[in-house]
Amino acid sequence: MRTIIEPFRIKSVEPIRMTSVEQRREILRDAHYNLFAVRSQDVLIDLLTDSGTSAMSAEQWAALMRGDESYAGSPSFERFEAAVKELMPFKHVIPTHQGRAAEAILFSIVGGPGKKIPSNTHFDTTRGNIEATGAQAVDLLIEEGKNPSSLHPFKGNMDVGKLTTFLAANADHVPCVMITVTNNAGGGQPVSLENIKAVGEIAHRYGKPFYIDGCRFAENAWFIKTREAGQAGRSIPDIVRDMFACADGMTMSAKKDAFANIGGWLAVNDDELASTAKNRLILTEGFTSYGGLAGRDLDAIAQGLKEVVDEDYLQYRVRANTYIGERLTAAGVPIVQPVGGHAVFIDAGAMLPQIPALRYPGQALAVALYEAGGIRSCEIGSVMFGRQTDGTEKPAAMELVRLAIPRRVYTQSHADYLIEVILEVAQRKESLKGMKIVWEPKALRHFTAQFEPLR
Ligand code: F0G
Repeated sequence: MRTIIEPFRIKSVEPIRMTSVEQRREILRDAHYNLFAVRSQDVLIDLLTDSGTSAMSAEQWAALMRGDESYAGSPSFERFEAAVKELMPFKHVIPTHQGRAAEAILFSIVGGPGKKIPSNTHFDTTRGNIEATGAQAVDLLIEEGKNPSSLHPFKGNMDVGKLTTFLAANADHVPCVMITVTNNAGGGQPVSLENIKAVGEIAHRYGKPFYIDGCRFAENAWFIKTREAGQAGRSIPDIVRDMFACADGMTMSAKKDAFANIGGWLAVNDDELASTAKNRLILTEGFTSYGGLAGRDLDAIAQGLKEVVDEDYLQYRVRANTYIGERLTAAGVPIVQPVGGHAVFIDAGAMLPQIPALRYPGQALAVALYEAGGIRSCEIGSVMFGRQTDGTEKPAAMELVRLAIPRRVYTQSHADYLIEVILEVAQRKESLKGMKIVWEPKALRHFTAQFEPLR
């Protein structure tokens, strides 16, 4: 098979500022070894997130100029709404400034004390918005999804047995059922169409609406097409429509699979819910035809949605990440298998067994990758999840480092450089030591905590 090339040419470039190891050591010291405190000009390859970091296409930049900034009745909204409904035919589409704003509006209405909301795995902001209302966010992922080396093709699937038992026991307290595609928190793992349909049916059997967190819907659809029996001959838009046909609504961050730098939406079929949501939107985000966005943002999203379902793009997207994963695996670096849609996750716990969980192997590895090669990644382990609400600290389920790949931004030689840096660090992995936290805030400590390396 020939190399799958980047299916685009580069028309506009952003220079990367080269730095030396010595400079990066000083930058790390100044940042108290927290990569969120490093300036982006000091990063060579920024894999902190795939959110809002996509390269827009020439057509998207052109669409920005078509943006109509009228307060009401803007054609930008009409184009946005039509593009969403083309793929996700929900009755009401409510724009928001990003995904978490859609979550906040939805859960402020359906959440509340005593409520329980099951999902495969809630993303942090989803969980946070549910818990902020006093409700409980419940994760019912299949067992294979929790095992980094399992090769199950749909490790994002919800455990339908557990969901049925959960609904039988808690039906009175459950306002809705959710599923996240792909499952970001579990490694960007996809959910099969069969599982989405089954979860929708079970929810409906209990009279519960079913919502999809659709952030990475197109990557999920590509996995359905390439991995699920009977799906290979179907078009991506058809698969996407099937995914959402099972649901009563969705939340979305357009910063992922819409190639936009900002934006999101809440879509629902229920007229009453839509009306309440629109009232909240007007109070917190803006009028119903722009919801916290500029008209030009809506046009960029509308165009992005047309581009993201392109098969050449999706083939390249998933192949580029798999390429990194295959090279790392061949060299013995433990990663979450199989590689997901938007990121490669290194299993830092397995790679650095000499570092105990509460000495933060993920943070130590992330810092080492930055020092060695200017790579910015993100610890997803005990730094992020270790501090409990009662003030105690306990190890997270896994010690991972996420290399989130921005869409259409980096080329294969960037990937080769990334692999070289990781392998260079892997060669001296026994010499890596842990970190200690010398200051942390009351909540969400990973963003601002200060560290010191252990010697
Ligand atoms: N749901 C999922 C699955 C996400 O990955 C995110 C964001 C959100 C909801 C919230 O969307 O950022 O537009 O408010 N994930 C980013 C990340 C931040 O880096 O994974 P948002």
